[in-house]
Amino acid sequence: MEGALTARDRVGVQDFVLLENYTSEGAFLDNLRKRFKENLIYTYIGTVLVSVNPYKDLGIYTEQQMQRYRGVSFYEVPPHIYAVADSAFRALRAERVDQCVLISGESGAGKTEASKRILHFLALSCPAAAHLSRPLSAKGSQPANPSSISVPPAVNLAIRDRLLQSNPLLEAFGNAKTLKNDNSSRFGKYMDIQFDYKGVPVGGHIQSYLLEKSRVVQQSHGERNFHIFYQILEGADDMELSGLGLERQAQNHSYLIKGQCCKVSSIVDKNDWKIVRRAMETTGFSSEDVEALLGVIASVLHLGNLRCSVEESGEVCLKGDSQLRSLTRLLGVSSSLLMEALTHRKIAAKGEEVLTPLSAEQVIFARDALSKAIYGRTFNWLVSQINGSLGNKEKSQHTLFGLLDIYGFEVFQQNSFEQFCINYCNEKLQQLFIELTLRSEQDEYESEGIEWEPVSYFDNRIICDLVEEKHKGIISVLDEECLRPGEATDITFLAKLEETVGSHPHFLTHKLGDQKSRKTLKREEFRLAHYAGDVNYNVIGFMDKNNDLLFRNLKEVMSVANNPIISSCFTKDELQGQRRPETTATQFKTSVAGLMDTLMSKEPSYVRCIKPNDAKQAGRFEDVLVRHQVKYLGLLENVRVRRAGFAYRRDYPRFLDRYKSLCPDTWPNWKGTASDGIRTLVKHIGYKPDEYKLGRTKIFIRFPKTLFATEDALEVRKHSIATKIEASWKGYHCRQKYLTMKRSVVMLQAWWRGIRARRLAARRREAADKIRRLIKGFSNRRLPRCPQNESYLDLLYSSFLLRLRKKLPRSPLDKSWPVPPPALKQTSELLREMHMKNLVRCYCKKITPERKAQLESKALASDLFKGKKESYPQSIPKPFLATHLDENDIKNAKVIQSIGTLAGKYGVQVTKFDRRGFKPRPRQLILGADQGWLLGPSEIKQNFLYSQLQGVSISSLNDGVFVLHIAEDNKGDVIVESELVLEILTKLVSLSGKKDLIRITETSIPFSGGGGRQGVVEFSKGTMSSIGKAKSGALSVVVQTAASTG
Ligand SMILES: Nc1ncnc2c1ncn2[C@@H]1O[C@H](COP(=O)(O)OP(=O)(O)O)[C@@H](O)[C@H]1O
Ligand SMILES: [Mg+2]
Repeated sequence: MEGALTARDRVGVQDFVLLENYTSEGAFLDNLRKRFKENLIYTYIGTVLVSVNPYKDLGIYTEQQMQRYRGVSFYEVPPHIYAVADSAFRALRAERVDQCVLISGESGAGKTEASKRILHFLALSCPAAAHLSRPLSAKGSQPANPSSISVPPAVNLAIRDRLLQSNPLLEAFGNAKTLKNDNSSRFGKYMDIQFDYKGVPVGGHIQSYLLEKSRVVQQSHGERNFHIFYQILEGADDMELSGLGLERQAQNHSYLIKGQCCKVSSIVDKNDWKIVRRAMETTGFSSEDVEALLGVIASVLHLGNLRCSVEESGEVCLKGDSQLRSLTRLLGVSSSLLMEALTHRKIAAKGEEVLTPLSAEQVIFARDALSKAIYGRTFNWLVSQINGSLGNKEKSQHTLFGLLDIYGFEVFQQNSFEQFCINYCNEKLQQLFIELTLRSEQDEYESEGIEWEPVSYFDNRIICDLVEEKHKGIISVLDEECLRPGEATDITFLAKLEETVGSHPHFLTHKLGDQKSRKTLKREEFRLAHYAGDVNYNVIGFMDKNNDLLFRNLKEVMSVANNPIISSCFTKDELQGQRRPETTATQFKTSVAGLMDTLMSKEPSYVRCIKPNDAKQAGRFEDVLVRHQVKYLGLLENVRVRRAGFAYRRDYPRFLDRYKSLCPDTWPNWKGTASDGIRTLVKHIGYKPDEYKLGRTKIFIRFPKTLFATEDALEVRKHSIATKIEASWKGYHCRQKYLTMKRSVVMLQAWWRGIRARRLAARRREAADKIRRLIKGFSNRRLPRCPQNESYLDLLYSSFLLRLRKKLPRSPLDKSWPVPPPALKQTSELLREMHMKNLVRCYCKKITPERKAQLESKALASDLFKGKKESYPQSIPKPFLATHLDENDIKNAKVIQSIGTLAGKYGVQVTKFDRRGFKPRPRQLILGADQGWLLGPSEIKQNFLYSQLQGVSISSLNDGVFVLHIAEDNKGDVIVESELVLEILTKLVSLSGKKDLIRITETSIPFSGGGGRQGVVEFSKGTMSSIGKAKSGALSVVVQTAASTG
C-alpha cells in the first residue's frame, strides 16, 4: 500500500480501499476506467486483485517483471497477478500453510490467462527453477501460451514442465471458441501443486469438472467444437489423416459445422497441434496412447458423418460405408455389432433380451449419445493420464498450492443444463468468497482486539439453497423427475419446479410471472435471479443431460473394443452394476461441494476478473457491462467491508519504519517497543482518537484522508531529510575525496622519497666505486695501463685535458702551459705546438698591413740591434712610425719641388754636427726610395744615394749618434744625432736593402771629414750626457750610465 500511496495521484488509486468516495459505484468505476485507459489492468481491494481483461499483450509478463515481484512486499510494488502469486507462494514456503488462488469472473474475463500466469510464475520462481528460467512468449493476442516453451524430449522431465505442459493439452480437448471467448474453458479445473519443504514442486493433481459434452454434437451459431478436432485436421500430415480415414476439410465433418465457424482468426490450429503433440511427449504419452487417442477423436467425427435413412421396409439404418470401416478399425469393434447397437435397443424382459428397432430420431440420439460418451470419457482418461504423470512418487510431507480456473458465469440467448450447472458453481464460489473475505476480516479485528460493526451485503446462500437443497432444491426435483416411473418429460419437470420452488423469490416461470415478465420468458423456460443477474434456462434437454443416457447395448459394444482407451473407459464392471448411476447434476453438486471443502481448507487469495466489453476488443471499456460485473461480484461490498472497520492497517514495525521521521522522538531510531513508538508517533502527529485504533500487533487507520495527510507530511519531511542526507552525503563524499587525495599524496611522497634515496644511494655507491678504483689506480699508476689503473689514468688524462682546456694560453706571448702527467708529456707538447701555431695563425690573420710593416721593421731592428746596442731594449715598446714629418713641416717650396712629394718617404727631425767644430745644427732627414736628403731650413743641404752609402756607424751605448759613411762625397761623412736612431737606421736598412750597413763600435767611430781629413767620434760613459768637442779634437759623446740615470 505504500507503493500505492506514492502513486495515488498519478492514475487513480492502486487500492480501492483508498478511494475517498468508497461507497460510490461511479467513483469505483471511474478509478477502474482511468487505470484501464492507462493499461493498468490490476487494482487491489486490500488483498483481492481486480483484473480487467485488456485483450492485448501489455508486455507485463516478462522475466524482468517476475524478478521485480519476487520477494518484495505486496504493497511496495504496483498491483500485479505476480504479486498475488508471490505473496501466496512465500506464505506457503515460510508458514507451510496450503494456499489457493481463486480466480473468478465471467466467461472471457481472463481467468484462464490469470491461472496460467500464476502457474508460470510459480514454475519459474521455485528454487529448482532458477537455472531453468526460459523466456515467455512475448507476442500475440494470446500471450498466455505457455506451451510455446520449448521442451527437450527427455523422458524424466521435471514436474514443473509437466505441470506447464498439461495446460495446452487440456485446453485442446476441453476448450472451444464460444461467442464470449475464443478460447473458452468448457470444463472446470482445479489444480493442486505439491511443494516440498524447500519449495520445489514434487507433484501435482488436476481435478476436472463437468465437461460440456453437448458441444461434441451441437454448437450454437458462431461457436466451434473443441479445438482438438480442428487441430488434427489442420496439423496432421496426409499419411496420418488417411490412416484415420479423415478428410482435411472441416466442412466435410458434420459435427464441426453446426456453428458454421470453422476458422477463428485468433487461433492457428496447425501450430497448436504441434504444441499439443509436444505436450503429449512431455507428459509421457506412449506412441500407442497417441495412436489410440487419435483413433478415438477420429471415430467421433466418423460417427457424426453416419447418415440415418429409413428403408422401404420401414427399418431405420445408418449409412456410411467408409465411416463404418474406419470406426471398426479405429475402435476395434465389430461393425455389425456396432450397427446393431446404434439402431436397436435391447430390452430385458422376463430374463430374456429382446432387440427392438429404434426410430430415426432415436437412432440419431443414440449416435450422438455415443459420441458424447466417448469424448467425455476420453477427456477423463486424459486427465487421469496427466495426473499419472504428475503423481508424487514420494510420500513425504508437502504443502499444496491450489489454482482454480473454473468456467465463469455464463448467459447466452439459449441457456441449457450446462449453463445451469456452471452458474450454480459460480454461486457456490461467490458464497465462498463472501464467507472467506468477511470471515478473515472479522477474524483480524477479533485477533487484534478491535471492535467493529458488521456490514450488510447480499448473501447468495439463498440462491445456492434454491438449487441444491435436499428434496426441495432444483437439482433434487430434477433427479426425482428423472427417476420417476411413468412419462416424465422436460415439461413435467418444469411443472414440478413451479410446484416445489414456485414461491421462491429468485425463481420465476412464464406461468408464475406477471404480464411484464412473461414477455421475456418462454413457456419452456424458468428464470433464476442469480447474484450475477437473471438467467432464463430452457428446460428442453435437462432430463436427458441429467440422465446422461447411453443405451446398454452401446456400452456393451464399447466395453469389448480393442482400442485401449475405449475399453478402459467403458468397463465391464459398469455393466454388471445394477444400481442406477448418479445423475449428472448430483455428481456435479457433490464434486462442487468437495471443491468447496478443498478450498476452505486452504488460505485463499482472490483474483476477480472483469470483462471490459463483449466484443473482445482492446481498449474498449463499456461502462454498463463493467458496472454490472462490479455489482454482482460484490466488489463494492468488498471495499465497504474493508473500509467499515478501517481503511488501512499495518503492523507496528513497518508503520513505524515508514513514518518515524515525522516525530523527533522516533527519528532516526526508536529505542523502545514498536507499539510504544507508534503511540509516541501518533500523539506527535495528532491523530484524533476516532481516527485510529491500536490492535495487538497492528495499527488500524479508519479514514484514508488521515493516512493521506500523514503521507503528505512524510512527503514534505522527505525534502528536509533529503537535504540532510544530501549534506551528509556531500560531506562524506568530500571527505572520501580528501582522504583519497591525502593517501595519494603520501603515496607519491613516499615514492618520490624512495626514488631520491635510491638515486642518492646509487650515486654514493658509484662514487665509492670510483674512489676505490681511483685509489687502486693511484697505487698502480706507475704500471703500464692495466685494468687496475686504467680508470685512474683515464681520469688523470681527462682531468688534465679538461684543466688544459680552461688554462690554454690566450695569446702567442703567453708561455704558460699546465704540467701534464708523465704519460701525456708528448701529447701535451704536440698540443702546445698545435695551439701555438693556431694562436700565431689567428694573430697573423688579424694583423693589418701597417702593423705588419711595423712588426717587420721591429724584427729588422731586432736583427740589427738586439744585444748590440744598449738603447735597443728601450726602443722595443715604442712603435716605429711611417714618418714624423708631413708636407707642412717643410716650408720651402723649392725643396719640396726637388725631392717630390713626401708621401711614401720617411722624414724625421735630427741634429747634424758639423764635421769640424761639431756645431749642432737642426736638420730634417728625409729617406726616399733610393736616396736620402738632409734639409736645412730653406734648402737641401746634402743628399745621398743609398748606393753611395758605405755604412752607418753607431756605438753600442745608449746614445743617439750615428755616422753616415758616404763614398765619393767630398763633403765627407755626416754625423747625426737623434733619439730615434734605431728607428731611422732600421728604416734606412729597410729602404736600401743593405743589411750589413750598420757597424757597431764600442768606443770610437772614425769618419771622413771631407777634403781628406779624418775625424773621430769618441764615446764614453759619464754621469751626464753631453756631446761636444773634446780637447783631442774629436767629437766626444758622453753617455749617461744606467746607474747615474737611475
Ligand atoms: N492479462 C491478459 N493480457 C492479455 N490478454 C488477455 C489477458 N487476459 C485475458 N486475455 C485475453 O482474453 C481472452 C480470454 O481470456 P480467458 O482467460 O480465456 O478468459 P476466461 O478463462 O475467463 O473465460 C484470452 O484468450 C486472451 O486473448
Ligand atoms: Mg477459461
